[in-house]
Formats: sequence, C-alpha cells, structure tokens
Amino acid sequence: MQNFDYMTPTRLIFGKDVIGELPEVLGAIGKKVLLTYGGGSIKKIGLYDKVKELLKDFEITELSGIQPNPKYDPSVLDGVRLCKENGIEVILSVGGGSVLDCSKAIAAGAKYDGDPWDLISYKVKAKAALPIVDIITLAATGSEYDCGGVISRTETNDKIGYVDPVLYPVCSFLDPTYTFTVNAKHTAAGCADAMNHIMEQYFCEDSTLLNDGFCEAGLKSLMVNTKACLANPEDYKARAEMMFACTLGCNGIYALGNSETGWPLHGIEHALSAYYDITHGEGLAIITPRWMKYILSEKTVDRFVKYGVNVFGVDSSLDKFEIAEKAIQATYDFFVSIGIPMHLREVGIDDSRIDEMAHHIAVNEGLENAWVPLTEEDIANIIRDSL
Ligand code: NZQ
Ligand code: ZN
Repeated sequence: MQNFDYMTPTRLIFGKDVIGELPEVLGAIGKKVLLTYGGGSIKKIGLYDKVKELLKDFEITELSGIQPNPKYDPSVLDGVRLCKENGIEVILSVGGGSVLDCSKAIAAGAKYDGDPWDLISYKVKAKAALPIVDIITLAATGSEYDCGGVISRTETNDKIGYVDPVLYPVCSFLDPTYTFTVNAKHTAAGCADAMNHIMEQYFCEDSTLLNDGFCEAGLKSLMVNTKACLANPEDYKARAEMMFACTLGCNGIYALGNSETGWPLHGIEHALSAYYDITHGEGLAIITPRWMKYILSEKTVDRFVKYGVNVFGVDSSLDKFEIAEKAIQATYDFFVSIGIPMHLREVGIDDSRIDEMAHHIAVNEGLENAWVPLTEEDIANIIRDSL
C-alpha cells in the first residue's frame, strides 16, 4: 500500500429540497454573488427562479452561457472580469460539471493580477481563490467533490485539467431531483465518465482488497442505476445512487493507497474533445475497450481477470486471457446497451488529425509514465483502433 495524504474540505448537502439551506450557507461567506450557469437548462427546470427567490437579499451578478467543454475565452475571462468589477465575494455555480469547472478557473483568476491562463497552465501557482458553492444538476464529473476544473482553449487545441487544492468547493448541494431532466445521451455519458474515473484508479500496479472492492461496487452501482435512470428518468432512488457514485469519482477516495496510474484514458480523451468538442463521457467510452485490448499482456492480464470476474461475473475457471477478453467485450457491450455511439466516426472524428492529436497528447499528458506506458505511436494506434 502506498503512502497518501488526503483531505476533501467540501461540505456535501445531499437530498430532496436541500437547497432551502442555500441562503444560510452563502450568507456565512458573503452577500456579493457571481451566479454562473450554462445554456438554459436551469431555467427550464425551474431552478433558476428558485435560486433567485432564495437569494432575494443577496447582490447577484450573472454569468450565463457557459458551454460544455467550457472555454477560457470568453467564459473564464468574462467571469474573472465580472468578479473584479463587482467585488464578488462568492461564486454560486448552478449546472453540470462544465459550469462548475469554469467557475473554479474564474475563482482562481479573480484573485490573481495577471493572465488567468498562467494559473491554468501551471506557469504560476495560485495563492488563493474565491470561495465556490455549487448546485450540481448532472451526475458525471465529480467536480463537486474535487479540486479540478477542465478548461479548453480553442485556438491552441488545449484542454487542460487544472488541479489545485484552492479549488475545492466550500459546499456542494446535491439534489437528485434536479437530474430527472438530464437526457439519455448525457445520463449515459455521465455514467461512462464516472466509470472511467474509477477505472483510471483501479487499473494499476498496486492496490488493496479494500480499494478493489470499493471500485468494483462503484462500477456495478453505476451500471445498474444508469440503466434504471434510462428506463425511468424520474426514478429517485436510481438518480440518487448514481449521483453519489459520481460525486466520489474524482477526488481519489475510491483508491487511496493505490499506486499512480497516470489516467491515460483522460489524457487521450481530453485531446479528442479539445480538437472536436465532443462529449467527454462518450469519447472515454469509445476509447476504453480499445485501450484495454491494446494493453492486455502477461503483465496486465491478472488485473483484467479480477475486473471480469468481480464486475461482470465472468466464469473464473476459464483461461486468464479468455476471461480478460470477455471482460473487455462486456465493457464494450455495456456502453452499447446504454446507447453510446462506440466509434469515433459516429461523433464526427475521422483519421485526418490522428497523428497531430497523438503528438499533442504525448507532449502534454506524460503518458510515458502511465501504468502501461504509452508512446506517441501507441496513442495514435489506440485512437485509430477507435475509429
Ligand atoms: O448548458 P446547460 O443548458 O445547463 O445544459 C447542459 C449541457 O448541455 C445539460 N444539463 C446539465 N444539467 C441538466 C442538463 N440538461 C437537463 N437537465 C439538467 N439537470 O447537459 C449538457 C452537458 O453539461 P456538462 O456540464 O458539459 O456535462 P458534465 O457534467 O458531464 O461536464 C463535462 C465537463 O467536465 C469535464 C469534462 O472534460 C467536460 O469538460 N470534467 C471535469 C472533471 C472534474 N472537474 O473533476 C473530471 C472529468 O474527468 C471531466 O474531464
Ligand atoms: Zn472524466
């Protein structure tokens, strides 16, 4: 078991109607609020009106229109400007992971005198960030319980995972009823994203029985509950369990003490969505089984055996490579069963920029240090296999 140093300082308030506590939580931080949101889903579901009513005694400035795969320009830059011009004391992010990630970058940029890209690109370490409170409306990223935000810069095809302990939300409100309206595409993509967060921690050199059991339970919970959410989008129990499994996905708790893995699937996918603006969870689902197949070897096979037997119930008496192949096929089949397009061509990616993307990933993501090291050529092969 490896050493670790763990703390998640974020308060989670979970359940139906919990946003009644919002004025008290925000009031303890400040009265000048930057309210951030996306393209309008929060208005359609009545959440915007509810928040405005709850915060009638607060001074609210708004930043709307934050897109999926949130953009540095204009969203982060506009947000930073609004915070500085209006003396904002706290950011309230209402929406999915993209709104929250953008809000995190704004929070750090608001406390920095230079170009916020210095922080996102790790040129300068943030000394502080504005406090963030969020109401998460989509179960997927786990951004509500981690200190990362992923920001895209269109002109350079960068999509950077910006991670810094100053970015933990102070408090996250998780009301599963707000996820009833998430459509089938984003429900499935959210599941694939959260499953990948677990897999990125599970497929490693050194793990424990405890962590393996936790990860395997997380994967099974996500698969069962996502199917239930797709069958009945207003199934509270399923939406609630899915939401919580996602929330735990990215802050490390699934695998404290496991060895580092390098998160290769995210390293590859972030470039795909930077170049083609695809949905993150779909990109991950597409490359996952191809990556698994690519790295299957004498060195990795036992891990796939454990995964196949414990997550998918593959017959443990079979030959180890047969179990591994069945496990990889079961992963692919599950993503198909929840409606995810399983070829890059189906999401608009052809073979014209594969080498360019592979080079970008090899230079920026450090995948030569992954559990199974990946060279530029390996990365290109995995993307090609996913077409
Ligand atoms: O923009 P609006 O109108 O709000 O619509 C959104 C958006 O179109 C919609 N939506 C959200 N809540 C809804 C809803 N529609 C109906 N009902 C609701 N209750 O869903 C669409 C997708 O939203 P988005 O926020 O983009 O999805 P998600 O939460 O999956 O976030 C994806 C982003 O997070 C990053 C991804 O790379 C991507 O940029 N990630 C962030 C991580 C983190 N901070 O830890 C880790 C992840 O690995 C991931 O990379
Ligand atoms: Zn992810």
